[in-house]
Amino acid sequence: MQAWKDYQSQNNDRFLNELLDLLRIPSVSADSKYKADVAKCADAVKDHLLKAGCDNAEVCSTAGNPIVYGEKIVDPSLPTVLVYGHYDVQPPDPLDLWTSGPFEPVIKEGRIYARGACDDKGQMFMHIKALEMMAKTNTMPCNIKVMIEGEEEVGSGNLGKFLEDNKEKLKANVVLVSDTSMISMEHPSIETGLRGLSAVEIEVTGPNRDLHSGVYGGAVANPLNTLCKLVASLHDENGHITIPGFYDKVADLTPEERKELNLAPFDIEEYKKDLGINEVWGEKGYTTLERTGVRPTLDLNGIWGGYQGEGSKTVLPSKANAKITMRLVPHQRPAEIAELFQKHFESIAPGYVTVKVTKGHGGEPVVTPTDSPAYKAAAKAIQTTFGKDPIPTRGGGSIPIIALFEKTLGLKTVLLGFGLDNDNIHSPNEKYDVANFYKGIETIPYFHKYFAESFGK
Ligand code: BES
Ligand code: MN
Ligand code: MN
Repeated sequence: MQAWKDYQSQNNDRFLNELLDLLRIPSVSADSKYKADVAKCADAVKDHLLKAGCDNAEVCSTAGNPIVYGEKIVDPSLPTVLVYGHYDVQPPDPLDLWTSGPFEPVIKEGRIYARGACDDKGQMFMHIKALEMMAKTNTMPCNIKVMIEGEEEVGSGNLGKFLEDNKEKLKANVVLVSDTSMISMEHPSIETGLRGLSAVEIEVTGPNRDLHSGVYGGAVANPLNTLCKLVASLHDENGHITIPGFYDKVADLTPEERKELNLAPFDIEEYKKDLGINEVWGEKGYTTLERTGVRPTLDLNGIWGGYQGEGSKTVLPSKANAKITMRLVPHQRPAEIAELFQKHFESIAPGYVTVKVTKGHGGEPVVTPTDSPAYKAAAKAIQTTFGKDPIPTRGGGSIPIIALFEKTLGLKTVLLGFGLDNDNIHSPNEKYDVANFYKGIETIPYFHKYFAESFGK
C-alpha cells in the first residue's frame, strides 16, 4: 500500500532513533535496583502509544511491574487485534563481554547492539510504529489493543490476574506477538509452537560449616561433589532425562510431522561454526531441529558454592546450590514436572547430605494453529513483503502468558517474530538487524489488512 510505503520511508530514521532512546532505559525486571528505570520505561511506552495515535493509553500498576495498555478503536464492527509484547529486559551480565555498553545502543554494520534490541523492545516497538503508520494515514484495517508488560523475563507472574480482571477491556479476535525468531531474511518463517518451562532450585547441605578439606576431606561428603554427581545423573548416556515419568505425557510426532519439521532449511556446519562448537549434542534419535522444537530438556542455569575468588582455598563447603530449568512440550504440565523433579531428586539424595528442592515459576507449552484465518493472514503478509511463503517452525523458547491468552481470554495467538536465532538474546552483545526492524514495521500492517479481509471487511 502506497500510503504505508511513503509514510515509512519518510519516518524510518525517526523510528530508529526513538527505538534507540527506548533502549537507553535499563528496564531489567530481574533486579530490583532497576525499579525506577522499569517505571520510566513503562511511561515512555505509554507516551509512544499516545503519540502513535491511540485514543487512550495508561500505565496500569500491578503487584509487580506495571503493564502498559493502549487502544485505538476505529470502528466497533471491525475485528480487533490484541498486540502483546514486553518492555522488560534480561540483566546485561556479564558486562565485560559486551563490546559496547548494553544500554548505550550503537549501530554497527546495520545492526543495533543493545540489551533488548531484539528481545523485546525492538520487536514490540515495530507494532507501535506500524500502528502509527496506519493511524496517521487513516488506513487502520482493524481495531488495535496493545498490552506491553514489564515482567515477561521473570515469568509474567502478575499478568494472569490482569487478564482475569480485564476480560472485557481485552476482548479481541486474536493476539499478535512479535517476540520469537525466524530462520533468516531469505527464509522467512513463523513459529507455530513454544516450549513450556518449569524452574527449580536445589540446595545440598553437608556439614554444619565450611571445613578444612585436609582435616576432614575424604571423611565427610562434599556437597558440591555430591550435587555434581546428582545433577549428572539426570541425563543418561543417550541424552535422555532420567526422571521417572518425565516423558509420560510427551506427545510423539507422527513420521509425517517429523518429516515436515525437518524440511526447514538448516545447515548444521554453519550452526556449529556460529556457536564455536565441534559437535552438537542432544537426545539420541532426534535431529537438532527436533531437539529444540519438540523435545523437552533439563538444563543447569547456574551452580555455585565453595570458594570462587582469586587463588585457591582448600575448603570443603557446607552447601552447594543449583538453578535448573526444564523446557516442556505438549502435554507436559509445569507443576507436575516440578513435582516429579522434586520427588526424584529427593529420592536419589544419599544419606550423607540433605537436599532441598524449591519449585519456581513455570509456563505451559503452546501450539498455534496454522489453518486459522489469523495464521493465513500472517503468512500472506510475509508473502507480500518478503515475496516468499513463510516456513512454519517450532520455537524452543517460552512465553508463559501465551497459554493464558487462550485459557483466560479464549484467544489464539499468532507469533509473528522477526528476530534471528543468533541475535544473542539473553547474551552479551544482543543485536537486532535494522533491516529486520524495518521489515517488521512494513509487514505488520498487512497482517491487519488480511486479517480484516478474512472477516469480509
Ligand atoms: N522472547 C523470548 C522467548 C523466545 C525467544 C521465544 C526466542 C522463541 C524464540 C522471551 O523473552 C523469553 O526469553 N522467555 C523466557 C521465559 C521466562 C519465563 C524467563 C525463556 O524462554 O527463557
Ligand atoms: Mn521476549
Ligand atoms: Mn527473553
